[in-house]
Amino acid sequence: MFTGISKSYDGQPSVQVLTDFHLTMFPGETISIVGPSGSGKSTALNIIGLLDRPTSGSATVMGVNTEDASSRTIDRIRAQHLGFVFQDSHVLPVRTCFDNVHLSLWASQTPRPARAQLVETAIEKVGLSHRLHQPARVLSGGERQRLAIARAIVRNPSIILADEPTGNLDPDNSQRIVDLLNTERDRGAAVVIITHDHQLAEQCDRTFTLADGVLEPVSAHA
Ligand SMILES: Nc1ncnc2c1ncn2[C@@H]1O[C@H](COP(=O)(O)OP(=O)(O)OP(=O)(O)O)[C@@H](O)[C@H]1O
Ligand SMILES: [Mg+2]
Repeated sequence: MFTGISKSYDGQPSVQVLTDFHLTMFPGETISIVGPSGSGKSTALNIIGLLDRPTSGSATVMGVNTEDASSRTIDRIRAQHLGFVFQDSHVLPVRTCFDNVHLSLWASQTPRPARAQLVETAIEKVGLSHRLHQPARVLSGGERQRLAIARAIVRNPSIILADEPTGNLDPDNSQRIVDLLNTERDRGAAVVIITHDHQLAEQCDRTFTLADGVLEPVSAHA
């Protein structure tokens, strides 16, 4: 739950990005956030994902008020409960698909022998089993994005944050990504999707626009 979040960046002049941002996420729902370029969507996602701290306001994630939490606690929440899908996938091109997903288990409590099974299951879910031991560089754009999803979901996170997950994809590949994210929603994850694609946004359970640092529900929807 995020209440009264503001975020500014120091500089000459300083930039006020979020002014009074409120969001409560529930298990088993998809939320989309749309807004013009530079409106602060990625900034908001980084704060929701505990990658960045707000300038003021209260952020409670998985029952922990992060204002008073140590960075170790925040790292643990992020590792155990959050999954990220970044724009441009950020997969490591020279590593195999298996390694790309396996790397996100580095801090996991899962015993080593069980990790391989988790990786294979995640890769199977996104339809890339036939590519398991091939380097990510041979994948198409859509396949890379599916690999990025496998990496985000391998720990069965409670919250999945996706920054333009379909940004560079054709309609068929975009739909595949949406279907995968919906499957995560159906198993109980809260999924937040930033997108410029209004059709995708409207498929989500709730839609918000970010403008002037404030998140507004889209009326017919939220
Ligand atoms: N580290 C930073 N230091 C200074 N200004 C920043 C920093 N990060 C972001 N900004 C500024 O904050 C504003 C919001 O940036 P943000 O990346 O959140 O926008 P966005 O809505 O994700 O845009 P886009 O749709 O283009 O990805 C922009 O004006 C940007 O220049
Ligand atoms: Mg952005």
